[in-house]
Amino acid sequence: MNAPAILSPDALAQIDRAVAKYLQDQKQSAVMAALTIAQHEKGWLSTETMDFVAGYLDMPPIAVYEVASFYTMYDLKPVGRTKIALCTNLPCALQGANHAAEHLRKALGIGFNETTPDGAFTLKESECMGACGDAPVVILNNRQMCCAMTTEKLDALIKERK
Ligand code: FES
Repeated sequence: MNAPAILSPDALAQIDRAVAKYLQDQKQSAVMAALTIAQHEKGWLSTETMDFVAGYLDMPPIAVYEVASFYTMYDLKPVGRTKIALCTNLPCALQGANHAAEHLRKALGIGFNETTPDGAFTLKESECMGACGDAPVVILNNRQMCCAMTTEKLDALIKERK
C-alpha cells in the first residue's frame, strides 16, 4: 500500500483491528467496517477516500465503490450535520412513514438525498432497520435510532438539532 494515508493513525488502527478479525488473505472482508470508520472520520466517502480504502485492503476500487453505493448508510457526497434516514419499507409505511416523509420534506424544505442550505440536515430514504415493531423509524447520523416518529416527535427533533 503506497498511497499516502488520508486517515488518522487512530482510524487506521481501528481498520487494522477490523482486518485482524479475518484470515490474512481475506482482509477485504473488513471493507464495510473500513468504510464506516473512514466515513465517520471524513464525514462522507469521496472517491479519494474510497480509493484509499481499496488500496489499504488490496481491493480493486470498483469493488469498494460497489459496496459504498449499495448500502444507504454510506454517503457519497457531503451531508448535513444531522442526517435523518427514514425507513420507508412496508411495515413503516403501514405505520405512517409516507406521512412522516411528507412532513419532513415540508418542514425541512428538501427532498430525499438533499441537504438544507444551512447545512443542518440531510434527508435520506432508508431500507428496513429491523425495528419494524416501532415504526415509523429514523436513524440519525447512522448511529441513533428514533422510533414511533409522529409529526410531533419529528418537529421536536428538528427543533433540537437545528
Ligand atoms: Fe421500517 Fe422495518 S420496515 S424498520
